Amino acid sequence: MTARNPISVGVIGVGVIGRDHVLRLARRTVGAQVVAIADADNDRARSVAAEVGADVHATGAELIADGRVDAVVVASWGPTHEEYVLAAIAAGKPVFCEKPLAPTREACDRILDAEVAAGRRLVTVGFMRRHDQQYRAMKEVVVGGSIGAPLLMHAAHRNVSVPSFFTSEMIVTDTAVHDIDVARWMFDEEIVAVTVLSGRVSGKAQPGFRDPQLIILQTASGILVDVEASVNAGFAYDIRGEVVGEDGTVELSESAGAVVKRAGAAHVRVPTEWIERFTPAFDAEFRAWIDVIAAGGTHATVGPTAWDGYAATACCEAGLAALHSGTQERVELRPKPELYCTTQPALTSTALPEGTPR
Ligand SMILES: NC(=O)c1ccc[n+]([C@@H]2O[C@H](COP(=O)([O-])OP(=O)(O)OC[C@H]3O[C@@H](n4cnc5c(N)ncnc54)[C@H](O)[C@@H]3O)[C@@H](O)[C@H]2O)c1
Repeated sequence: MTARNPISVGVIGVGVIGRDHVLRLARRTVGAQVVAIADADNDRARSVAAEVGADVHATGAELIADGRVDAVVVASWGPTHEEYVLAAIAAGKPVFCEKPLAPTREACDRILDAEVAAGRRLVTVGFMRRHDQQYRAMKEVVVGGSIGAPLLMHAAHRNVSVPSFFTSEMIVTDTAVHDIDVARWMFDEEIVAVTVLSGRVSGKAQPGFRDPQLIILQTASGILVDVEASVNAGFAYDIRGEVVGEDGTVELSESAGAVVKRAGAAHVRVPTEWIERFTPAFDAEFRAWIDVIAAGGTHATVGPTAWDGYAATACCEAGLAALHSGTQERVELRPKPELYCTTQPALTSTALPEGTPR
């Protein structure tokens, strides 16, 4: 495929993030076009399709079978991901699946088995922080070695508020899951144990809702990662991260482009929504995905693979057990299939601006 022959994408699930991905692919991703859309809510599918001139399919299965669809995005609810990802693998089509790959380890196992049987990596999982310039700059420093061997990581994930259906368990599976993926990626190690602590509950939380939580991850070499997950923080969508090494530290900078000083105070914009904080990362992950498909290599994935999706879900399951037991729970992973042991294509663009100390 060439730039004159764009990758034709079909999108399943066009709610909040699915619609955003449709617009990103159709309007801002060079080499991509959106040709088909499906959603359990047909009215929604029609309305989003009309925005980009795509066709509507009655079901996701029909969309995957459509011969004009080169590649599939799955952005429906988590429990529906497995069916669509398996169908895309069976059809031999690259599939970008929003997190979670699937909500249970058994479902992720079935996806790994199908991809291994197909002998090609076709599944990319939407852990977009790996494409975020700040996280990538941090990782470059960690890998570069200037702060010495990493010992600890501190992270915070603070949401302004969450809808009333949000549960204590979702703080692990929907909120901290991103920090779980970051920890695995930052240190190139699996997480072997998870502890979840909850103490004084925010007065803004619903009765019985355990918010905030302090989630402690332990990697295979013993690096400890503490994640404050706090979903009624009120003031902003505030994402923090700091790695402590033997010789120094590296932390995420504030995401605002400018600091305003006036009237005796300094002002920095802090995003209030995840979509504002991570739009450049979402854009980058889709650029990378379309580029790797267009390159036409053996594998059609970039960034997080089905293995990463499986490992994140396994950590979340241990996290849920830890939330309920109050003790540390082990993460036991199946042996890593050979398919996931070969190198991934490098993510494009250098993260660190010229002159940044390394
Ligand atoms: N990467 C991120 O930071 C991020 C952010 C938000 C959401 N997500 C993930 O994206 C997914 C969607 O989240 P959302 O917030 O857009 O949810 P949403 O509820 O706004 O949208 C989900 C859409 O899927 C449709 N749908 C449900 N079942 C379906 C089925 N069987 N077939 C086809 N369509 C179906 C619904 O009608 C709805 O339009 C979830 O897995 C969520 O975890 C990821």
